Amino acid sequence: MPMFSSSINVPVVAACDLEADAHETFAWYRRSFPFIALDTGGYVVLRHGDVARLMHDPRLQATEIAMPAQAGITQGALFDIFAHGMLTANGEAHARRRSAVSRALAGQVSEQFRQHMRRAAQGLIEDCYARGRLELVSGYAEKLPVMALASLLGVGDADLLAFMQYVYAMNAFFRPKPTADQVAAAEAAGSWIRDYLDGLLADAERGRSHGFLARYAEFAGQERLSRLEALVQIVQLIIGGTESVRTALVAQIAHLMTNRDQWRAVCVDPTLVGKAVSEGLRFEPGIAGAIRVSVAEIEIDGLTLPAGQLVLLSSLSALRDETVFDRPNVFDISRPNLELSRLVFGGGAHRCVADVMGRIELEEALLALVERLPWLRIDGLPAFHGHMFVRSVGECWVCWE
Ligand code: HEM
Repeated sequence: MPMFSSSINVPVVAACDLEADAHETFAWYRRSFPFIALDTGGYVVLRHGDVARLMHDPRLQATEIAMPAQAGITQGALFDIFAHGMLTANGEAHARRRSAVSRALAGQVSEQFRQHMRRAAQGLIEDCYARGRLELVSGYAEKLPVMALASLLGVGDADLLAFMQYVYAMNAFFRPKPTADQVAAAEAAGSWIRDYLDGLLADAERGRSHGFLARYAEFAGQERLSRLEALVQIVQLIIGGTESVRTALVAQIAHLMTNRDQWRAVCVDPTLVGKAVSEGLRFEPGIAGAIRVSVAEIEIDGLTLPAGQLVLLSSLSALRDETVFDRPNVFDISRPNLELSRLVFGGGAHRCVADVMGRIELEEALLALVERLPWLRIDGLPAFHGHMFVRSVGECWVCWE
């Protein structure tokens, strides 16, 4: 029996229940309540309509440095990501930071990028083809998004392995429940990445590179970004563009594998890849939602969400809302309203700045497997963790012998 918050009459839900099974727990409360309170503090908005609407509501603001402050982090490379990045910024600071990135991205995510991702995915499969087995997370899903970013930023082949290792060491801080050792390693990795990007950006400014970074250097100047701001936006592209794609890539393949008729359908008709990607994003999103702070009271269905609170707009819950998706717990790439899975990319001012890029990576990763390994099989569904922001996924073995 859950406790009830005395002032506003919504249940207070234990974080351990959400850790055990976020989908089941959200579903249980979603039927009766538009939002719940967490025993660890803050609130979670559960229903599709409310989450989509509140993404645009100015009474919910980006969290600035509230999150690192909560974790006792007040300086350093990780702190700077929150203090100087677009994701946690509001108003004019957010607009300037985002504008430099989105203008530089325009036109870069093209057919050429798609071809590059196709070759990268095909290459990873050929590398391990003779072994007949692959751990999907470390051997495929983790590598492809870093390869995508490396091509965008001009990271050389010689640096790719080190770049990848530092990226995932840094990202560990943003996953559910990092250990103290992981936080220390993330801080060191964050510094390494910033220094490395500083070198790439300096080369771009001297006219030694073309493409995204050269454009970005120009727009960062026009938007009057400080050097630190300019670097941190690229760091945010890296964090945003790796964790989300990694988990989504494993989810879409694993759920197609365990719904064999749908896997076969995609193998027979690869134009279904786009639908499979959309359903994978809906069914097991890599990002659980958007975290905000309420700057005023907000009434939802007769209940008042208080001001001054952390609020999670949960796409994880909303994308299984039974009033919007028929049989929400069934993976079904033939859903009539698959376009509603776009909520996974958020909404409003902070809506994902690189959703097209993410989708292309997911589509090409799936296409390469469908074409080369239609007889692919999975050992068992991996575990997905996390219900607040970045989610994580456990080992996932596939084979084709
Ligand atoms: C499947 C893939 C992806 C998903 C599900 C996803 C999801 C999201 C969501 C929900 C937000 C909004 C967060 C908020 O409002 O608090 C967001 C923002 C963002 N995403 Fe993505 N994303 C994906 C791919 C990518 C990729 C490939 C990149 C970069 C290469 C990226 C970079 C970013 C950045 C920088 C922001 C911050 C935008 C802002 O604050 O204005 N994402 N993403």
